[in-house]
Amino acid sequence: MKKYMIDEFNSLKNKADLTILAIESSCDETAVSIVRNGREVLANIVASQIEIHRRFGGVVPEIASRNHLVAISNLYEEALKEANLLPEQLDAIAVTFGAGLIGALLVGVNFAKGLSYSLKKPLIAVNHVHGHIASNFITYKDLAPPFLCLMVSGGHTAILKVNDYNKFKMLGSTVDDAVGEAFDKVARVLGLPYPGGPEIDKLAKKGENVVKFTVSNSLKNTLDFSFSGIKTSVINYVHNKQQKEEKFSKADIARSFEECVTDELTTKVIKAMQMTKSKKVVVAGGVGANSMLQAKLKEAVKSINAQAFFPELKYCTDNAAMIGSMAFYYIKKGIGRADLDLTARPTVEL
Ligand code: KG4
Ligand code: ZN
Repeated sequence: MKKYMIDEFNSLKNKADLTILAIESSCDETAVSIVRNGREVLANIVASQIEIHRRFGGVVPEIASRNHLVAISNLYEEALKEANLLPEQLDAIAVTFGAGLIGALLVGVNFAKGLSYSLKKPLIAVNHVHGHIASNFITYKDLAPPFLCLMVSGGHTAILKVNDYNKFKMLGSTVDDAVGEAFDKVARVLGLPYPGGPEIDKLAKKGENVVKFTVSNSLKNTLDFSFSGIKTSVINYVHNKQQKEEKFSKADIARSFEECVTDELTTKVIKAMQMTKSKKVVVAGGVGANSMLQAKLKEAVKSINAQAFFPELKYCTDNAAMIGSMAFYYIKKGIGRADLDLTARPTVEL
């Protein structure tokens, strides 16, 4: 196949202003955004499918893809309207190509390919995890690498060193469940609606830290995480109480679980900052919205004269503005150009 739009892509690198339309459909949010120069959001439209999936207690992949398909072209029109732009005024089309649910990703990828082809604008393939990091560039206009990143989402839990906009080094990651997954499963056993993270966050405020849950000790000297043990402990605790028909406080369980998990995340971040002599930690991903994590991490970094950055709440969870922001830096670094044979990928290397 003839190389697609290679000259157009290269010419973008030196263009004074770049206006990028970005698409995100990796899970249960269909999102279209228009971002100028990586930092200025001209439009940010998110159609959440949370209400649709709630009745199933989690995301049903097939239903997610169908709903992306229904929503996406309207969101595109809406985004242009919000930004007051014509399609010709866009410089590039960016899209999340992975990681995520394959059928869901495919909707965004194919829509982006269609736009790129019909509008004759370069296509940029963005890694979802990189996008989450970039959500901070929107909130903090002067923030620039190097910094440390705590990535905490429904699919990822990791500590990364971000050396440049395109240079990421993994320092530690979960050996089993992602922390968001643990929040969602614990919420489920407590009978709380999907997604569980925000529900636990709210309920924990009314509870006490009285049940002593712990995380595995075996990773104590590493920067890796394990959350499947604590998740199972909470599930067993609840089932045990239910079998014995004993009363228990859901708020206390939520609080005890949240205390343990946020202690672990905070401890490991501080350890990583000390090891790498970093003075800035940037939090990315949905669990970054957690109020206890925010409070603990802000306090802990203060004690070592460092700073913690959390994206604005609406950019913590999945959105397309973060994809548009990252795409700008991909272009500046000369990476991410995609051909029309771009395909979606359920997993992607960092
Ligand atoms: O980054 P995200 O929107 O999607 C993925 O890429 O995975 O993260 C979703 C995760 C879910 O597990 C959700 O329960 C969790 O973020 N979450 C929270 C909070 N808000 C969202 N977890 C704890 N506290 C919150 N306030
Ligand atoms: Zn995400």
